Amino acid sequence: MDTNRIQNLKNQAISSILESKSENELEQIRIEYLGRNGEITKLLSLLPSLKPEKRKERGILLNETKKTIEEAIKNQSSIINHQSSTIDSGWFDITMPGIKPIKGHLHLVTQAIKEITFLFEKIGFNRVAYPEVEWDWYAFEGLNMPKNHPARDEWETFFVQDLFHPKYGAAVLTPHTSSGQLREMERLGQPPIRMLNIAKCYRRQIDASHIPMFYQFEGLVIDQEINITHLKGTLDYFVKQYFGPKKETRIRPFHFQFTEPSFEVDVTCVVCGGKGCKVCKQGWMELGGAGMVHPHVLKNGGIDPLKYTGFAFGWGVERTMMMKDKIDDIRLLFGSDLRFLQQF
Ligand code: DAH
Repeated sequence: MDTNRIQNLKNQAISSILESKSENELEQIRIEYLGRNGEITKLLSLLPSLKPEKRKERGILLNETKKTIEEAIKNQSSIINHQSSTIDSGWFDITMPGIKPIKGHLHLVTQAIKEITFLFEKIGFNRVAYPEVEWDWYAFEGLNMPKNHPARDEWETFFVQDLFHPKYGAAVLTPHTSSGQLREMERLGQPPIRMLNIAKCYRRQIDASHIPMFYQFEGLVIDQEINITHLKGTLDYFVKQYFGPKKETRIRPFHFQFTEPSFEVDVTCVVCGGKGCKVCKQGWMELGGAGMVHPHVLKNGGIDPLKYTGFAFGWGVERTMMMKDKIDDIRLLFGSDLRFLQQF
């Protein structure tokens, strides 16, 4: 009878006791170790045959083991009984508040898209979506940017390998929502057009204010006698609704191939309210591009530029949203850090 064997028996017994789930199982374990023919009982009965020095030492060890097993059985038994009685005996307080599951919400970019859509739908714009993998014609050529035109450089385009349309050219990941302009003219065939195209756009760029995939929203209005005042009014409406009634817009001359004249649109700085600060310098923040649709583009879309005119604008969703919420790094939006996302 060596001490290792006794130690092993104790370990085995304790682990079965801890795993047992019913009084029945516990009783089986008790019989196995402490019953009339149990392992420990058998060893105890061998004690008298040992030499006196060993007898005393093993006797103490065996009795301690027996006591430990008995106590473990008692403990486990009360755990098993407690678990079943918490439900049966009314001890369980069903009026206690439960643990609240974490409630999710729409991602902040999705929230911004919904809000922008809502504001433009209210004044009669029609939300559309067009392919993210687009032909060169819709993204560039039809927008008055012939092949090799330097203006194309600005768009840092991803070209799709081995995909080519005999009429519409190479395939690209659309670098701007302006590609939706020709698609919408083709779809409707006839003005009036009031399009709001919100889609993912792709460019080879990444830093604190640029990422390779981002969203733009593009407005296009074509009808008879549409002029710059309609554009300015629409911009004012959106900016006041989205950023607040005190915000003004300003248009500055700029150049885009698909509009003539072209503008960049500024909004009263959201940080200083227009006084001029470190962020904006002169009280204005740049929002995005806009202009009167170029006659070539109308023609490419099958619309008579002598009869119809139109305006268009295209801005980044994230940029617009970040301005309102004063977020200074676009990468936060797509980082999935709940400590950030839960604030919205
Ligand atoms: N497509 C331009 C860009 O991604 C933005 C833009 C400028 C859109 C002027 C327009 C416009 O519709 O009229 O930078």
